[in-house]
Amino acid sequence: MAAVPASLPGTNFPILQDMCPGMYFSDDTIAEIRAASDIVDVVSGYVRLKKKGSNFFGLCPFHQEKTPSFSVNPELGIFKCFGCGAGGDVFRFVREVEGMSFPEAVRTLAEKEGIELPEEGATSRERADTVEAIYGALRFAARFFYARLTQADSGQKALAYMQGRGYSKAMIRDFGVGYAPDGWNRLLKEAEAKHISVETLEQAGLVIPRKSGEGYYDRYRDRIMFPIFSHMGKVLGFGGRVLDDSTGGQENTQPKYINSPETLVYDKRRVLYGLRQARQVIREQEEAVLVEGYTDVISLHQVGVRNTVASCGTSLTREQIQLLHRYAQRIVLVFDADGAGEKAARRGIDIVLAEGMSVYVVELPAGEDPDSIAQREGASLNDYLAKRRVDFVRWLHDVDHRAGRLDTPEGRAAGMRAVLQAIACIPDVLRREAWLPRASEIFSVPEGRLYDVLESMATSREREEFRRSVRTGRPASGGGRQPTGRSVSRSDDPSVKKSRGPTFGTRPSDSSALATEKILIRLMFEQGLPMVSYILGNTSLNEFSPGAPRRTVKGFAEQHRAGSMNRQAFLDGAYGAEVQRLVAEVAVRKEEPSQNWEQKKGVVVPRLDENPEGTALQAMKRLKIVRVDEAIARRAEEQSRAEASGDDIRTYQQDIIQLQALRGRLEKGEIIR
Ligand code: UTP
Ligand code: MN
Repeated sequence: MAAVPASLPGTNFPILQDMCPGMYFSDDTIAEIRAASDIVDVVSGYVRLKKKGSNFFGLCPFHQEKTPSFSVNPELGIFKCFGCGAGGDVFRFVREVEGMSFPEAVRTLAEKEGIELPEEGATSRERADTVEAIYGALRFAARFFYARLTQADSGQKALAYMQGRGYSKAMIRDFGVGYAPDGWNRLLKEAEAKHISVETLEQAGLVIPRKSGEGYYDRYRDRIMFPIFSHMGKVLGFGGRVLDDSTGGQENTQPKYINSPETLVYDKRRVLYGLRQARQVIREQEEAVLVEGYTDVISLHQVGVRNTVASCGTSLTREQIQLLHRYAQRIVLVFDADGAGEKAARRGIDIVLAEGMSVYVVELPAGEDPDSIAQREGASLNDYLAKRRVDFVRWLHDVDHRAGRLDTPEGRAAGMRAVLQAIACIPDVLRREAWLPRASEIFSVPEGRLYDVLESMATSREREEFRRSVRTGRPASGGGRQPTGRSVSRSDDPSVKKSRGPTFGTRPSDSSALATEKILIRLMFEQGLPMVSYILGNTSLNEFSPGAPRRTVKGFAEQHRAGSMNRQAFLDGAYGAEVQRLVAEVAVRKEEPSQNWEQKKGVVVPRLDENPEGTALQAMKRLKIVRVDEAIARRAEEQSRAEASGDDIRTYQQDIIQLQALRGRLEKGEIIR
């Protein structure tokens, strides 16, 4: 086989780059060893510990100190040094104190507790080998198809088709487009010659077992092959298009596209076609263009819109938008001008807004798709898109308006509701409300009318969503308590009156944001998913400080979505060292709030385990107020700067008045339910 040009993307990546060192032991084995190991006992081998309350304290073995700031919490099985920040579980302790690797620490502790390790964790090593073999097979297949298109006579027809559609050689190369030759086992035979097993080919989704008798056949035959790369450049699967459109879509004929099935390496919800090629430009522009088809992506790249991606034969998912959020702040939806495209755009708007990003829509003329517009506009496509894109409120209104749906009172109400529902997806309360003037202008309705509808939608929607994911994401047997806030009706939560109890730090400065965040993080950590659900149902990620606090909360949100809580992941450093330190710090409670504060000061302080929902409610309220205060301070500063330079200050004044009103409602407990 002729050599593949070095520019075929994704061929130079180390196969196992994403694997972590602990993977050779199963989670069960690790959990068993952890449960068997008494962390106080283990640490006592190195540090003299003294019991104080429910924790143990001693001199930190990781840094020089004279007064003990090193503590161990046996209940949670973790250690933490308030001096140097070291912290984690029993495995981390052994690793750090002995300078061992993770597997070595596992073996050491297993031996100490007399736990027999399955011989070298054979199963997970096998799994790693399988994954590696699948990547190898996919990479091989991508090269094989590419060579068939560009270098073999059998690919003439396919190459002519691609060129007939106007695709350049450069694009074919950049996207690694290939051709799967006709015949039942062309790939299979070539793979066998390269000692790739049929089992691996099947696990990679490249061959299918014959229905009758033995053997396998190629999944893709006589198709243009679009390899799907991970954003890191590994081949994950393929989309295979027929050459002859007339065969597509009819009964008893081939479908237009055959896509790879999901495999051990390919999770369609988490992959975007073209991200590998687009991500640099997306990062530079902080903006991504989202289209529906593989061919749309390539066409747009070819005419210079190099920040274009598509989902691969599935409807858009939250995971895909989260992936884009790593690179972009804004998404431009350019979908086909048909009913399906409109539906996809509506869905896209909600998902993008819910992720806290901005969204625009470009409406194409009837009968056109991004590919055809790209062919027509050529290099001016970027300008074309910039001129035609509109914000989501405008687009939602115009779609309904054009369809005559706003002509009746009922239709107008439904149209406004749809817009408010989209706005309600925006997690950040300030950004959410910033859209009201726009909606009021476009529908010519007073803003105040829209306000209350929006707030009731926003809070109920968030809570509903989290409740739903609690219900569906967890086994029915997991009947933990579910704090809904109902149990803390404002009147019977005395702590609300005095919102600055000692658990909250005492100053309304930025340090009180962190103190409050720590309380919320501790509650989520201690109380588990129902508390995560309660807190995230009433706050947005953006309310948490960027850096460790937000990343920690994001971690809880991810686990919540996945349906199970993995406390250990935080302590193991799965979310990074800063998160690990923060969680270890909040998890090891340095001191309980004073037991007799009540008698001394006449202040009722809910102790954490007594009324966690009440504590959470108070902390959320506090955090929101801090954020609003920050916004007011920013506006005031902008106002005085504008004043100094003789600019109009009315908008700042209005903002401040609105923010103060919001603050008042927060103080009264109106926002959190
Ligand atoms: P389109 O039918 O618009 O195809 O489907 P396209 O990619 O734009 O191709 P051309 O330009 O008509 O040649 C849009 C996307 O929907 C998925 C594919 O991801 C495709 O790119 N799709 C479509 C399938 O998965 N299977 C199908 O049979 C059709
Ligand atoms: Mn299309």
